[in-house]
Amino acid sequence: MTAITVLHPGAMGVSVAASFAIAGHDVRWVAQGRTRATADRAAAAGLESVATLVEGCEHADLLVSVCPPAAAVDVARSVAISGFSGTYLDANAISPGTALEVASIVAASGATALDGSIIGQPAHQCDTTRLYLSGSAATVLADDLNGGPLSVLAIDGKIGAASALKMAYAGWTKGSSALLLALFAFASEMGVDDALLAEWGLSQPQLPDQLEARAAGVGPKAWRFVAEMEEIASSLRAAGISGGFHDGAAETYAALARFKDASPPPELAAVLEALRTGGATSE
Ligand SMILES: NC(=O)c1ccc[n+]([C@@H]2O[C@H](COP(=O)([O-])OP(=O)(O)OC[C@H]3O[C@@H](n4cnc5c(N)ncnc54)[C@H](OP(=O)(O)O)[C@@H]3O)[C@@H](O)[C@H]2O)c1
Repeated sequence: MTAITVLHPGAMGVSVAASFAIAGHDVRWVAQGRTRATADRAAAAGLESVATLVEGCEHADLLVSVCPPAAAVDVARSVAISGFSGTYLDANAISPGTALEVASIVAASGATALDGSIIGQPAHQCDTTRLYLSGSAATVLADDLNGGPLSVLAIDGKIGAASALKMAYAGWTKGSSALLLALFAFASEMGVDDALLAEWGLSQPQLPDQLEARAAGVGPKAWRFVAEMEEIASSLRAAGISGGFHDGAAETYAALARFKDASPPPELAAVLEALRTGGATSE
């Protein structure tokens, strides 16, 4: 049994924490600074909390960061300040460069960093979600963490490899959603949306059906995708490849930020309106 603290049980983090508990580990989460929504989510999953980050660090042999990508570096800094010296796994959608920055931050307090990335839906069922690990302890830790619904897989490579995999994967899935929605917003602004749907029906028959689902899928999470697209753009640039496309995708998602956590998710018409106005509301 490994003592694990998960920072912080959001939609994905709670499923990761619950999966580790099912695998037989002693899992806690840190209540300090979190909202009622996070506390309710963790309680519903039967997870035990500790009050402060310092207590979370004292509890854990393994500290796991699953938070909005824009917060990953600050979370690592606060962990280093708390004096954590165990294994620190950052599983966020960050660039290989940011993963190295996180590793060097936590090394300052004596922690050993491991790089991670998550692909799939929150891991409430088996065979839906993969946690990829890279770094020196990846294989040992993957063996240790499997046993719940989350599949944990070690891949070859140092710190940054697992993050690079996520950047390449999400660069396509979230990048293509931004592209599809932006182009359809353009067509509707120009009054050629019906003509485009008719042409797609003839030559790209898979696209019309994807519009509603992609608008609903990305709308509530678009605020978080802004930083993820920026991380992808900087990953590509660091590899000598143009990051301009994902800079544009970040701008597209910024225009949808007002749908944060919307339930029910926004309809296609509302998403197109937000894209046409750059996110400004008409009220
Ligand atoms: N959801 C998915 O389907 C999915 C899929 C693959 C990968 N991931 C990855 O998982 C990570 C988290 O996603 P999620 O869906 O769990 O997000 P989420 O539902 O928005 O939850 C984020 C969690 O982090 C906390 N948080 C918010 N702002 C923070 C900050 N500034 N510092 C520290 N913690 C903060 C939130 O707490 P409060 O709101 O209570 O403050 C919440 O508990 C991301 O890196 C994402 O790329 C998610």
